[in-house]
Amino acid sequence: MTVNWQEHYGDFFQNQKALITGGCGFIGSHIAQALVILGAHVTLIDNMSGCEKSNLDFYFDDPAKYPGKLELVEGSILDLDTLGQVTDGRRFVFHQAAIPSVPRSIEEPVTFHENNVNGTLNVLEAARAGGVERLTFAASSSAYGDSPTMPKIETMPPLPKSPYAANKLAGETMMRAYASSYDLDAASLRYFNIFGPRQNANSVYSGVIAVFCTRLIQGQKVTVNGEDFSRDFTFVANAVHANLLAMRSEKPINGEVINVACGVKITIAQLARTIAKLLGRDDLQPIIGPSRAGDVKESLAGLELAKQVLGYEPIVDFDSGLAQTLAWYQQNLG
Ligand SMILES: NC(=O)c1ccc[n+]([C@@H]2O[C@H](COP(=O)([O-])OP(=O)(O)OC[C@H]3O[C@@H](n4cnc5c(N)ncnc54)[C@H](O)[C@@H]3O)[C@@H](O)[C@H]2O)c1
Repeated sequence: MTVNWQEHYGDFFQNQKALITGGCGFIGSHIAQALVILGAHVTLIDNMSGCEKSNLDFYFDDPAKYPGKLELVEGSILDLDTLGQVTDGRRFVFHQAAIPSVPRSIEEPVTFHENNVNGTLNVLEAARAGGVERLTFAASSSAYGDSPTMPKIETMPPLPKSPYAANKLAGETMMRAYASSYDLDAASLRYFNIFGPRQNANSVYSGVIAVFCTRLIQGQKVTVNGEDFSRDFTFVANAVHANLLAMRSEKPINGEVINVACGVKITIAQLARTIAKLLGRDDLQPIIGPSRAGDVKESLAGLELAKQVLGYEPIVDFDSGLAQTLAWYQQNLG
């Protein structure tokens, strides 16, 4: 089931100008796709450090198919001139650009700070100067750290355990400060384990669903670190929906931090078994290994605030999202 975005948003985004930072990445490219379907004029800025240009094939293979327009600017949010040019006159900014890896941030904390924190400041400044109405920020559930209380709700004190989580928390506080200080509304959307087609499976830092789909399709068994470890896996269309709802909100969001998830706990072992079953490969049962030091055991979101502020509810459940994702990896694995 692909989402019928028109059913949800009608002509709200028609002819509206939007910028997506990191727009060639996994989540950014899905926001872009929904927006061009909805008739928006979409500019993407991406330094191509963490993505494949083929993420935009949906558009560049047949631009005439879409009512909206898409333009990719290959540049960095650290380059103020380029950033200023692409931001000026945009109504909406979806700030997705970041280096998104917890383990890599532990190895390269300064690079991460420069890219993810200074970059976010640049995006806010460009948005302020460019007359942007509202900005959404790709925040992260990693800000919650490993407190055992479930579900995670936004009023809990953040406990970042890595430079990456600290970067994301800094971004949230900047969103709130800018929304209070200037004529620029903002929302921080705390994504929980987003997955779906086009997620990079080729890096040592790749998300678990991308890695499991790839390995199991290739007939290899996967190892699960910790039998009862679980996550709130969230199909990417739900993250797109939360971003679009935030932009459509009639009320200011005032820099509020809002969870974006499915609100359902799936164990990693269950995930591996479900993929094997969908592939008809029940013989590929996961190898259950010991838990890894530093891994958070459980992650589950409370979605009350998302419902209250954005009217958000997940529109694609885990099973349907997983089936679509697996089908995509089956078609796209070279
Ligand atoms: N995928 C998840 O589960 C998840 C969870 C929480 C938060 N997030 C956040 O969501 C956002 C999107 O994540 P994703 O999974 O799509 O990752 P991704 O790596 O596919 O996308 C990030 C994009 O940002 C680009 N980028 C990085 N630095 C840049 C710079 N200086 N200038 C311009 N572009 C730059 C990369 O090239 C890449 O295309 C990130 O901010 C990430 O931290 C993702």
